[in-house]
Amino acid sequence: MCMSKVIVVYDSKTGFTEQMAKAVVEGVKSVEGVDVELFKVGTPFSISQLNSADALIFGSPTRYGGVTQEMGFFLENVEAHKESKRLNLSGKIGGVFASYEWDGGWVAEKIKATMESLGIRVVEPLVSLVDGVHGRRRLQMDEEALQKCRDLGKAIAEKAAGTT
Ligand SMILES: Cc1cc2nc3c(=O)[nH]c(=O)nc-3n(C[C@H](O)[C@H](O)[C@H](O)COP(=O)(O)O)c2cc1C
Repeated sequence: MCMSKVIVVYDSKTGFTEQMAKAVVEGVKSVEGVDVELFKVGTPFSISQLNSADALIFGSPTRYGGVTQEMGFFLENVEAHKESKRLNLSGKIGGVFASYEWDGGWVAEKIKATMESLGIRVVEPLVSLVDGVHGRRRLQMDEEALQKCRDLGKAIAEKAAGTT
């Protein structure tokens, strides 16, 4: 059987978005015939590896109203290579997840806009989760929140495998 591939790239400073990323991976793994790779920005991986994916899922916490600095570098780097032959993400399937504490979900929208500028076909819904109330962080994710992340991974994996 020819395996489809999903790559998840995320950042996390204090672990909340990392739990989201792991649940997204679980969701991808629930679909037969789909391989998944998980990369944290700032750890060494070649962006040309993104070429090998059928679908890409990007996730970031909100920091000062935007993505983290490292996620910003990553997205800029990918955008900088968009015209080169080394990287062609056009036509791939995309998914987005993000976390925030008080700002609403606009970081997810920002990531979506960047992905769309690369020609990636972003699938809704984006998953944007609040990390507790300002000053009182929830930290531990509840089952409902985890399930939203698993559902995202599953939906993207099914599209990558061509079953939906
Ligand atoms: C330095 C710093 C800046 C932050 N800036 C924002 C912000 O601008 N808007 C917001 O909604 N949350 C902000 N947050 C809260 C984080 O987005 C939230 O706690 C997030 O879920 C943390 O994810 P992580 O545990 O994966 O790092 C900030 C947190 C820190 C520590």
